[in-house]
Amino acid sequence: MDVKSVIKESITRRDFVKRSTMAAGGGLLMGSLPIGASAYAAGSDTLKVAVVGCGGRGTGAANQALNADPGVKIVALADVFRDRLDQCYNSLAQRHLESGRLDVPEEHKFVGFDSYKKAIPLADVVILTAPPGFRPAHFEECVNQGKDMFCEKPIATDAPGVRRYMKAAEIAREKKLNVVLGLQRRYQTNYREGFKRVAEEGLIGEIIAGQAYWNDGGVWVRQRENWMSELEYQVHNWFYFTWLAGDQILEQNIHNIDIFNWFTGEYPATAQGMGGREVRTGKEYGQIFDHNAIEYTYPSGLVLSAQCRHQRNTWSNVGETLRGTKGTLTYAGFNNNAVIRDYNGNVLYDHDGLNDPNPYQQEHDELFKAIRTGGYIDDTDYGAKTTMTAIMGRMASYSGQMIQWDDAINSDAQLMPYDVTAETAPPVLPDENGFYPVPVPGVSEPH
Ligand SMILES: NC(=O)c1ccc[n+]([C@@H]2O[C@H](COP(=O)([O-])OP(=O)(O)OC[C@H]3O[C@@H](n4cnc5c(N)ncnc54)[C@H](O)[C@@H]3O)[C@@H](O)[C@H]2O)c1
Repeated sequence: MDVKSVIKESITRRDFVKRSTMAAGGGLLMGSLPIGASAYAAGSDTLKVAVVGCGGRGTGAANQALNADPGVKIVALADVFRDRLDQCYNSLAQRHLESGRLDVPEEHKFVGFDSYKKAIPLADVVILTAPPGFRPAHFEECVNQGKDMFCEKPIATDAPGVRRYMKAAEIAREKKLNVVLGLQRRYQTNYREGFKRVAEEGLIGEIIAGQAYWNDGGVWVRQRENWMSELEYQVHNWFYFTWLAGDQILEQNIHNIDIFNWFTGEYPATAQGMGGREVRTGKEYGQIFDHNAIEYTYPSGLVLSAQCRHQRNTWSNVGETLRGTKGTLTYAGFNNNAVIRDYNGNVLYDHDGLNDPNPYQQEHDELFKAIRTGGYIDDTDYGAKTTMTAIMGRMASYSGQMIQWDDAINSDAQLMPYDVTAETAPPVLPDENGFYPVPVPGVSEPH
């Protein structure tokens, strides 16, 4: 048997679904009766929206929902921190208070770890934009209550969380809930056009290799405030804690890796790689790596090199190159400029994307259109599997081991507590000098 057949045999999509269903362990309750998207078309003109996680993305997504449909009203806000909720409210108020489309009285502003449970019942559509570790619980609650959703990526930070999400997604499908996921390249014209040319028209031939980069100088760091418990501090500075964010592979490189999953219709059979932290070593950077390099091998034989790095004064690139038997497709630059070349250097396609619709807005335009017209969007399947792809890469990087897809999706390495309250002990604690445990390849178990 050749290498391709061995890999193919180790994972088929049917196998994946069967195993992940068998392994699913979530405590999902059946909620209200199915709400078909078309329920709104003939009903009230108002679509009530709640935001769970009122930070940068939650505020942005709320604006995009308001822009997408004149009947949208923001009716509830939920966050762990009152100041974040207020910032979100004040930012939305500047544009939408006078029109009455920001309609959040004090009693609909919910603060705390259980705030989502209070906000979700008030809405028809929910925006899920809290840190990723909380996503399975928030998603499950929306599904139980029959809500349509805009759900940010990634959908979990560990394999048990992915399985919990997938179990809830099965019920979402039965209820025909619309779920648009925040992997916005799938809503971006450049990528949709590229998909047509590559996956449908075969312009670069069979995809046999690729590169996926998210290399830049890094993101925000949030300082500890005196009044914060250890749990609150970690949630505040969530990007640097694996149980909350998943590491940079899940937070950012996932966008680039997803292109390969999408264009090939496959998910990797294996991952191996390396990573560590060299320049971002302070205690304020929690426990995640500042660089990861993962080599994924797909069932078809495609080998993908995925890199992510947060180190200043190093080569920056956020983009992808797909290498086919006949040519290449490269996405690069601020607008993800798309260029297809054959191996004689001829440019077969070039699109700068400058005048294309904003993909973040497009996500909401399509979500609310589907809700209004009885359409149906379900991004949960690829959302879960692409998140799993990124988790598998992290497992390889943290442990230094070769990771098989089946082992990854069935892993019991649980980073995120099933339920978090103000009393929950954080899963990682600082040592006496304030430093958090950092994975050591060759020593740490895959997680
Ligand atoms: N698709 C994209 O390009 C894109 C861009 C930015 C962020 N995101 C995603 O959006 C999500 C949020 O990122 P952000 O940049 O807005 O971060 P952020 O820190 O600005 O916002 C997160 C908010 O959630 C709140 N929060 C924390 N735990 C909560 C809980 N249990 N319940 C309710 N609220 C809680 C925080 O207090 C904060 O206000 C992440 O999953 C991130 O990956 C996606």
